[in-house]
Amino acid sequence: MILQVENVWKSFNGFVAVNDVSFSVEKGEICSIIGPNGAGKTTLFNLITGHLSKDQGGVIFNGNDISHLKAHKICRLGLGRSFQRINIFPRLTVFENIQAAVLTYRGKSLNFFTSAQTLFKEETEEILDKVGLQVHSEEISGNLAYGFQKQLEIGIALASEPEMLLLDEPTAGMSAQETKSTIDLIGKIVREKGITLLFTEHDMSVVFAISERILVLHQGQLIASGHPEEVRSDPVVQKIYFGRK
Ligand SMILES: Nc1ncnc2c1ncn2[C@@H]1O[C@H](COP(=O)(O)OP(=O)(O)OP(=O)(O)O)[C@@H](O)[C@H]1O
Ligand SMILES: [Mg+2]
Repeated sequence: MILQVENVWKSFNGFVAVNDVSFSVEKGEICSIIGPNGAGKTTLFNLITGHLSKDQGGVIFNGNDISHLKAHKICRLGLGRSFQRINIFPRLTVFENIQAAVLTYRGKSLNFFTSAQTLFKEETEEILDKVGLQVHSEEISGNLAYGFQKQLEIGIALASEPEMLLLDEPTAGMSAQETKSTIDLIGKIVREKGITLLFTEHDMSVVFAISERILVLHQGQLIASGHPEEVRSDPVVQKIYFGRK
């Protein structure tokens, strides 16, 4: 088991956004968390990655108790993430964005005699290659098409050499074609590198295309978890999530 979430709670001014959530993820698994808007998916991610403090509960990652660690420490332990909203440096080039992320992660070995442009050039190019952005390397990131910006974010998350990735709506706002190529890309990367993946997504075709297991969150509570077919046919999920009787 790589991730274990135990009885996690979070409320905002009395409103319970995450209500006693427990689940675990096996090493190498591809899991998704689905649920309507406001179900608590992003909040749950923030509680796991240390971007929000929990009211109660604990999180174990790779045998480490990360319940009270700061976000950057958790990232260093190998739990990477991307954000629902684009989180890049829009004025830097694509290359520079990845390079900055690699630098942040490996900063300790920085050699001041090396010129900035060549710092971690190989590592940066390898990541650019992985996320299919080599041809856009010198473009200003803010000018990239939206789908490429989301791909760049995945590259930034990869710079910390994560063992597990949490992706919050990696295809949000993408066209159908961008969605398909991004999902193919994510699937290829995580399988190649043996990265464990937990992601949230509204597009059910994406969810069912790559999830090995699906967790369903509803009003802050985990109401179902299982193989895609189990979840699809779960009467509670059908009623609450798919809106069927
Ligand atoms: N910082 C905050 N302060 C107050 N309420 C918050 C805060 N963050 C989230 N919430 C509330 O908690 C609930 C869960 O929000 P969250 O963003 O986690 O949902 P979500 O499942 O990610 O939704 P979406 O699918 O729209 O991204 C919502 O009702 C939201 O308004
Ligand atoms: Mg969200």
